Amino acid sequence: MDGFAARDEAMSGEAWTTPLSAIDPSRADRFATGAHYEIFRRLRRDDPVHHCAESPFGPFWSITRFNDIVAVDSNHGVFSSNRDIVIGDQDAFAPPMFIAMDPPRHDQQRKAANPAVAPARLAELEAFIRANVDDILDGLPRGETFNWVEKVSMELTTRMLAMLFDFPWEDRHLLPYWSDVTTTSETVGVAADMAKRERVLHECLAYFSALWRERAARPPKFDFISLLAHDPATAGMIDNPMELMGNLMLLIVGGNDTTRNSISGGLLALNLFPDQYAKLKADRALVSSLVPEIIRWQTPLAHMRRTALADIEFGGKAIKKGDRVIMWYVSGNRDEEVIENPDAFILDRARPRHHLSFGFGIHRCMGNRVAELQLRILWEEILARFDHVEVVGEPVRVTSNFVQGYEDLPVRIAA
Ligand code: HEM
Repeated sequence: MDGFAARDEAMSGEAWTTPLSAIDPSRADRFATGAHYEIFRRLRRDDPVHHCAESPFGPFWSITRFNDIVAVDSNHGVFSSNRDIVIGDQDAFAPPMFIAMDPPRHDQQRKAANPAVAPARLAELEAFIRANVDDILDGLPRGETFNWVEKVSMELTTRMLAMLFDFPWEDRHLLPYWSDVTTTSETVGVAADMAKRERVLHECLAYFSALWRERAARPPKFDFISLLAHDPATAGMIDNPMELMGNLMLLIVGGNDTTRNSISGGLLALNLFPDQYAKLKADRALVSSLVPEIIRWQTPLAHMRRTALADIEFGGKAIKKGDRVIMWYVSGNRDEEVIENPDAFILDRARPRHHLSFGFGIHRCMGNRVAELQLRILWEEILARFDHVEVVGEPVRVTSNFVQGYEDLPVRIAA
C-alpha cells in the first residue's frame, strides 16, 4: 500500500521472526526499501519501549507508540535535547543550535527567529509562494518524463528558503547544497566524508557572516538573518561562529528537506491511491485536509532523539540517566491504536492534523504553518492546471534513518 514490496509480506519475514532482543530499528537500508514499517509494527505490538543493546550508534531506546512519543516529547525536563537530536552522537564538531538546546537558551533563540515564519507573515509569504508556484508549474515539460523532485520539490523549497533568509537570488542553489551536506552524515547512517562536510559548512558560515554584517548595519527586517542580528538575545552570535553555523544548519535543513519530501511524497501517495486522487479532483476543498495527510503519511523526519537527564520508569522499562531515547515519529504516525487504517492515504480523515510529523512540546516545528501553506498553494495550482500528474516509474528513495525522502520521482504530464 506504500508502493513498498516489503509491505506485501505483512506479519511474516524478518520483522516477525527475529528475536526482539536482536532487533535494531535504526538500520538505514530498511528505510530505503520500506522494510522499517514492518519492524515498527512488530515493536508497537510486542515491545513498544524497546531497548537495542548494540547498534552502530551505540545502545538506544525506541519509543514507537503515538501516545508514548507525545509523553516523551512533552517532558523536556527529563528528556533533554542537549546536544544531540539524531541517533548518532556528534564528534568534536558539534555546532550548537536551538533545536539541540534546552530552556532557557532554546526559548530565547527560537523567539528571535520565529517572526520570519509567524502567522502574521503568512499573507506576505502567500503572495510570494503563489507567484513562484505559478512560474514553476507553467514551465514544466508536457508529454515527457521528468524528475518531479528536481523540477518542483527542490525548486519551490529553494525559492521559499531564499525568501525566508532574503538570500541573494542568483546564489540560491547554495541553500539545498548546504542542506544536503548537513544531512549527509554518519550520525544518521549515511556514508559521508565528515572532514569535507565540516569544510563546506565553514564556507556556508563565511557566506552568511558577510550577510549578517550587512543586515546588522541596516534597519531590522523579517528575514532570519536580520531577526537574529537585531535581537539582543542573539546579536552576539556573530562572535560565536560555531553557534551561528549551527543555527544556520538548523534553519536551512528545517525548511528544506522536510518540505521538499512532502511535495514529492504527496504526489506519490495520490498516485498510489488513485481513488483519493479522483476524490480530490471532484472536490478541491479537500486540499485543506490533503495537506496534513501528506505530512503524516510521508513523515519527512523519521525520528528525533532525546537524552535522559534522570532515571525514569517509562512504559514499564527502566530508562537510566544518560540513555539515548529515540522517538520514532515514523512509527507513531502508523499507530493503529490511534489512527484508523494508518497505512492508507485518506483525504477526509476526521482529525487530519492529529499526527506527529512536526513533533510536540517546546521544540514543535517552528515552520509548520509555512510548510502547510506551501503544500496548500502548490496543490491548489496543480489542480487548477493539470488533469493528472502521473508517476511513471519507481521512486528512488533516500537511504537514511532520519530523512524520509526521494532523490528521483519520474512523472509525466499529458501534452
Ligand atoms: C513538512 C515540513 C516540515 C516537517 C515535517 C518538520 C518537522 C520538524 C520536526 C519533527 C521538528 C522537531 C520537533 C520536536 O523535536 O519536537 C522540527 C523543528 C523545527 N523546524 Fe520543522 N519541519 C518542517 C518544515 C519546516 C520549515 C518550513 C521550517 C522553516 C524554515 C522549519 C523550521 C524548524 C525549526 C527552526 C525547528 C526547531 C524548533 C525548536 O527547536 O524549537 N521546519 N521540524
